[in-house]
Amino acid sequence: MQISKDIKYIGVNDRINPLFEGQYSVPNGMSYNSYVITDEKIAVMDTVDGGFTAQWLENLEAALSGNKPDYLVVHHMEPDHSANIAVFMERYPEAVIVSSQKAFGMMKNFFGTDYADRRIVVGENDTLSLGKHTLTFVTAPMVHWPEVIMSYDSLDKVLFSADAFGKFGALDSDEEWENEARRYYFGIVGKFGMPVSGVLKKAAKLDIAAICPLHGPVLSENIPHYLELYTKWAAYEPETDGVFIAYTSVYGNTRKAALLLEEKLSTKGCPVIAMDLARCDRAEALAMAFKYKKLVCASTTYNGGVFPFMRDFITDLAEHGYKSRQVYLIENGSWAPTAASAMKKLFEGCKDVVISDNIIKINSAVNPENIAQTEALAEEIASL
Ligand code: FEO
Repeated sequence: MQISKDIKYIGVNDRINPLFEGQYSVPNGMSYNSYVITDEKIAVMDTVDGGFTAQWLENLEAALSGNKPDYLVVHHMEPDHSANIAVFMERYPEAVIVSSQKAFGMMKNFFGTDYADRRIVVGENDTLSLGKHTLTFVTAPMVHWPEVIMSYDSLDKVLFSADAFGKFGALDSDEEWENEARRYYFGIVGKFGMPVSGVLKKAAKLDIAAICPLHGPVLSENIPHYLELYTKWAAYEPETDGVFIAYTSVYGNTRKAALLLEEKLSTKGCPVIAMDLARCDRAEALAMAFKYKKLVCASTTYNGGVFPFMRDFITDLAEHGYKSRQVYLIENGSWAPTAASAMKKLFEGCKDVVISDNIIKINSAVNPENIAQTEALAEEIASL
């Protein structure tokens, strides 16, 4: 795939591994992107996952057309991109690695060498001339590891953005960008909103015609839209004024309460979506909580606390920097309800999360009083 006259895509699609990073479900696969810039000097931009070495080398050889690469630019050391560094360096003994100081430290740990005699260390605003193309490096610590750099090719106006602007899904999967990019962002990079915001400020100063991420498609149209969405995500701002109802239910009674609230909110014209945490994708639920302005957590009491799927969900939110949201609680309990207090406690570490005092308490099954309370809660939520 040709990205520009001199830039070629040489990445691979992973349709084998059902889980990315050992935990994220990827029903449409995953891509590990790599690129070659052919100029007076030839630069290879990152490698790919270790399960796809042969295919990547084949793609690389085809792009090189008999030439030898001069540089391997390493933007990120996570093994889904760095696994083939040693293979590359052995195969092309005259090539030099261009990367951050921290990345070379990680190479020592991964490969037993930091390539001291075959490296160029780059930092903020350093440049590398390939001939007509000049790469300018942008440090991007914690997007998503501390060693990360991005690079900008000023000739073609291309930003090589490392993990940023990536998504789940192989390149040949037919799906819209936003849902899988959001699920990817909040699951993997979401905890690091502040550093992402910092890098986006630097990116805003660049004239970008295309973004080449390490996962997902090259973005070459409507760049301001992607930058705006990422800016919102990095700032933990909701995308929409709607409501996400996350619920757990053992025998269906808490589900009934959650779906009743969903129906009442919907009737009031409030955008709302409900998910059963035991049956939906965990990363999807996390992404929905960040997407919507308001969150309702409805849970059964369990072992003197909260149901495990809800406990894991809120813990996940807290660990991913969930903040500045309005939260509502529904608890169910048959003899000693404790779900609400347990949920409140789990949210304690979340900055500027306001939990409404209007908590619906169900004793085993939804009763007429609960129905009236749900109507009142729907009114409160819709009016904010
Ligand atoms: Fe795609 Fe952080 O590696």
